[in-house]
Amino acid sequence: MTSLQSQIDAIPWFHHFDKETFGFETKGIKGIPNRREVDLWGFKPEMFKDKTVLDIGAWDGYFSFYAEAMGASRVLATDHFCWGGDGWGTKAGFDFAHQLLKSKVETLEIDLPAITPESVGTFDVVLFLGVLYHLPDPLGGLQRAAAVTNDLLIVESTFEKLDETKALFEYKPERLREDYTNHWSPNLKGLRDVLAGLCGFHQVDVRPWSADRLICYARK
Ligand SMILES: C[S@@+](CC[C@H](N)C(=O)[O-])C[C@H]1O[C@@H](n2cnc3c(N)ncnc32)[C@H](O)[C@@H]1O
Repeated sequence: MTSLQSQIDAIPWFHHFDKETFGFETKGIKGIPNRREVDLWGFKPEMFKDKTVLDIGAWDGYFSFYAEAMGASRVLATDHFCWGGDGWGTKAGFDFAHQLLKSKVETLEIDLPAITPESVGTFDVVLFLGVLYHLPDPLGGLQRAAAVTNDLLIVESTFEKLDETKALFEYKPERLREDYTNHWSPNLKGLRDVLAGLCGFHQVDVRPWSADRLICYARK
């Protein structure tokens, strides 16, 4: 009989599921050894407890399942590029984790341009993690995420060390050579001002969590 770990290891994981949170381990290519990104980002269980949560670009679903484990009342995980589009990945990891965790996380294969209050509804908390810089139209993407957010939008992204007296998004043609799906990357002020000025958020906290990545909490 094949062991559980060998079934897990047969899947090409993006996310590193850790034993501490989920009771099983995957060798995902993303993440920092022996650190949980959710801790570095300042995620707290109370952000998710009894909340409805939408995870845009969920891929293997670590953050969808994390929200569920923290007591979310409903979680909808969405993706397209990695679940059925032209993407780098598949839904195999998500489906395996879903079954293993006996999860009630709902799923919808939908591309960001199709995400509207009519197509998915609205949610207390929306996760927009690692998606922004993949979008040819980052403002449109943020506005679509904002339109389905009732209270809190959490954005995780690359950022550029540019003049912080100006709100800037830099087009990164050199990143297109590394990964053709990468397009725009903001400075901290750029993301803050766009969320406050063009997406309807009243309180926007943006901070770097590594040398070139930011975490942002935007509240309506
Ligand atoms: C770098 S992965 C991030 C996955 C996960 N959210 C995380 O933070 O670890 C980028 C995700 O965005 C999704 N994605 C890329 N382009 C997208 C688009 N145009 N619309 C919706 N999702 C997209 C990919 O399928 C993938 O799941």
